Amino acid sequence: MILKRGRLTKGKQKALYEIRLAVPTDIDKIMALQEQVYEALSNKAVLATDSKETLAEAINGMGAILCVFINESQLIAYRYIRFPGSTPDNLGLEIGLDESMLNQVVHLETTVVSPEYRGNHLQSITFSVVEAYLESWGYRYILCTVSPENPHSLKNIIEAGLEIKALKRMYKSDLNPFGLWRFILYKDLKDTRMMDPIEEIGASFDYFQ
Ligand SMILES: CC(C)(COP(=O)(O)OP(=O)(O)OC[C@H]1O[C@@H](n2cnc3c(N)ncnc32)[C@H](O)[C@@H]1OP(=O)(O)O)[C@@H](O)C(=O)NCCC(=O)NCCS
Repeated sequence: MILKRGRLTKGKQKALYEIRLAVPTDIDKIMALQEQVYEALSNKAVLATDSKETLAEAINGMGAILCVFINESQLIAYRYIRFPGSTPDNLGLEIGLDESMLNQVVHLETTVVSPEYRGNHLQSITFSVVEAYLESWGYRYILCTVSPENPHSLKNIIEAGLEIKALKRMYKSDLNPFGLWRFILYKDLKDTRMMDPIEEIGASFDYFQ
């Protein structure tokens, strides 16, 4: 099912794009794009990559992956979301959400846009597309982590209405035994308060004082 169609305004092709949910046969393209984007990063600490198994689980129902295609089958971006349920890695636990709320949590996991097609707001567009479905799927609390060294992503996420709730070291691994610094951001879809994005970006500096 096509979730959205649009036209790219920046990049080497001003092509039409289509956004649709990934199916199992998309997995190799998704892995290849993740690798291409990761390899091109000058600061690799901004992106915690996902294994093929994790992404396949998302496609099979633990989450969803929105894929952005041009020329019918050329993948130029994707957004991966996950429904953590009451597992210990539910980010709600990091910010003190009540246990009864955990099943309504959705994680914005990774978003990657091919370097050639950046500047088309695909991170924000894929967010708006998925946000429109979340309540009807039974989800209410949106959580994600963003590296303090990733200003482009932080700006887009704050503009999407998420608020910074904490700064912690996350994603410990053999490669990063102390973990990676991450802001934890949160949005309640039923919260109708207006947020000032400028104020929120300013607040992110407070964490370093
Ligand atoms: C973060 C990311 C998804 C944003 O892509 P996007 O949606 O195309 O970005 P935007 O359309 O909001 O870009 C706005 C501006 O910032 C620039 N920009 C975006 N990402 C940039 C980056 N990583 N480096 C330099 N400039 C970047 C764009 O070129 C654009 O500039 P312009 O206004 O002069 O045209 C993309 O940079 C990316 O894939 N980064 C690597 C993976 C990552 O960090 N993902 C987020 C954490 S999971």
